[in-house]
Amino acid sequence: MNPSNVTVKTLLAMKRRGEKITMVTAYDYHSARICDAGGADVILIGDSLGMVIQGHENTLPVTVDDIVYHTRIVRRADPRALVVADMPFLSFQVTTSEAVANAGRIIKEGRAQAVKIEGGREFLNTVAALTDASIPVMGHLGLTPQSVHLFGGFRVQGRDQDARRRILEDAGHLERAGCFALVLEGMPFDLATEVTESLRIPTIGIGAGPGCDGQVLVFHDLLGIENQLVPKFVKQYARLNDVMIDAVRAFRQDVRDGVFPDLDHSYGAESDRRTHRAGSDEG
Ligand code: KIV
Repeated sequence: MNPSNVTVKTLLAMKRRGEKITMVTAYDYHSARICDAGGADVILIGDSLGMVIQGHENTLPVTVDDIVYHTRIVRRADPRALVVADMPFLSFQVTTSEAVANAGRIIKEGRAQAVKIEGGREFLNTVAALTDASIPVMGHLGLTPQSVHLFGGFRVQGRDQDARRRILEDAGHLERAGCFALVLEGMPFDLATEVTESLRIPTIGIGAGPGCDGQVLVFHDLLGIENQLVPKFVKQYARLNDVMIDAVRAFRQDVRDGVFPDLDHSYGAESDRRTHRAGSDEG
């Protein structure tokens, strides 16, 4: 491993130095290269892939095989960022030994460097079993999308006193059980700030305000590739959906007008051979 690569220890040190952590989801070789070139500290193969890649209405249908496949192709980009993969719905909730076996596949076959699991006090034994098996675990509290049916929709959590207390306590439990970081999703910003200040491990927020130690966004939201469902907390740093549609339209128009390909984009005599990507166009 390259010594400048990000590890779980780097993230702890960043929190100690007060340096903010940037995490972005990626699901394939090119999105991983883009995130790494943009300087993300952590790449998350989120089960959000069920929505933005597979077109499901929530993350529940995602399988361990899906996560292994996407993690493997992200890792082919050989990123400097720490690669964390989500444990999908029911891959860790049934028994602790199943959780270790599934996380083991994500690490061995997918080559993730850590896993993320949603939930609090119910999964402390699981967190401990995974860390005992030398698998680093990122926790995830608040609006945990795998609980969408229990919550009655994608609803902000921790609004009343009991729910706030529970989230604060769960954060402490997860730290003590061995998590190296926590995602805080969909909660009032003052609660996320209080959780962050109560912990030694870093928090990474999404829809949880500015008081966290870092922030995460879904690749398609950040780049404006997803434009149908844009939650309030998302900031789109580009409008790639429009750029891509315009590019396809321009291509279609050129084809219809017979102006693409012109001779600059065509092969001619032997002496004019162009190479194609890494290989040659022979044949
Ligand atoms: O699945 C995902 O992309 C996530 C992030 C939004 C934290 O869990």
